[in-house]
Amino acid sequence: MSKTLMNNLIATEQGLLSHTLPAQCYTSSLYHEIDVDLFIKGHWQLVAHESQLLAVGDQIVESICGIPIVIVRSDETTVKAFYNVCKHRAGPVAKTNTNSKVLRCQYHGWTYDLNGQLKVAPEMKSTPSFELANYQLAPILVECWNGFIFIALNEPSHTVDNLLAGVADLIKPISFEDMQFSHRQEYIIDCNWKVYMDNYLEGYHLPVVHPELNKLLDYRLYQTELFEHYSYQSSPMSSSTDSTSFYGEGKAHYFCLFPNMMLNILPNRIQTNQIYPIDRNHCRVVFDTYYSDCHKTEVKKMIEADKQFSDDVQLEDIGICQDVQKGLESGGYQRGIFCSARETGVQHYQYKVDAAYKLQGHLIDVLAK
Ligand code: FES
Ligand SMILES: [Fe+2]
Repeated sequence: MSKTLMNNLIATEQGLLSHTLPAQCYTSSLYHEIDVDLFIKGHWQLVAHESQLLAVGDQIVESICGIPIVIVRSDETTVKAFYNVCKHRAGPVAKTNTNSKVLRCQYHGWTYDLNGQLKVAPEMKSTPSFELANYQLAPILVECWNGFIFIALNEPSHTVDNLLAGVADLIKPISFEDMQFSHRQEYIIDCNWKVYMDNYLEGYHLPVVHPELNKLLDYRLYQTELFEHYSYQSSPMSSSTDSTSFYGEGKAHYFCLFPNMMLNILPNRIQTNQIYPIDRNHCRVVFDTYYSDCHKTEVKKMIEADKQFSDDVQLEDIGICQDVQKGLESGGYQRGIFCSARETGVQHYQYKVDAAYKLQGHLIDVLAK
């Protein structure tokens, strides 16, 4: 899409949605069900990194909004994903991350090869019309991008390349290729997943919610740019504060890729962040962090400091998101208005959510009120 077309589209979007989504979108179980279908199953989900699946037979077990999934390296050049659901009576074919030449059901022992084809089914020979060849694990779409492995439960409208178009250029000289997986941190938060997304999409709350992070970034130069599939927040960084000097000089890059993925990129460090709805007022937040030269002593020190600082910032965000959820459920709030100087990212995001609801016929009655 050309830059002019994109700017026109974004201007139109901003014109169309000057007020926030109604509270019901964050509080009703109906919208939870709609969200899982529209925004989780129908979009690419980052599930692993190729460095976690180096050997043939390596397997990773994942659950996305309660849907069991197994990702396997089936040969030197191929990663596959399947529903982790046996075709006999729906048992799991993998329970933990492991390496094995097969996927063996934990219920009655049916055994599949790494392509998902059933190979062994104990005591089934006398069962009329049963043939091994007729049973395969249900496959899931997989795409890899710069080592990151994405899956999709329903076919998305665009490729992973389209989703991330331009990101690698925007973060130069930082490079995805230089990064090695270091650790995962997970949080269960008492708020609707979109509350967490909205909160990520603006730096407006930095001075109030994150005083230490605000010292690291330059609030006056903090900016948001909008792209077809993501918004991009960035700020110069200062290494002059005691608590954050371990990051060094450079730029902080924050990408929010529609609908539920973030990239938090600082010098020598890339952090991915997936947000999954659990129910109408709980979500699961998964951070995976990567560094260049993970094994160097000075990088190990930085990792420990970064973990502590990231956790502190995360706890501040969790606190405000949980408070906002209570506010949305209070009955004393219906819709708010965006700050045009600071909240274009939230506005862009909510426009896309609203448009997806309307496209699927989930017209929100309360919007007319
Ligand atoms: S459910 Fe898998 S073998 Fe029975
Ligand atoms: Fe925040």
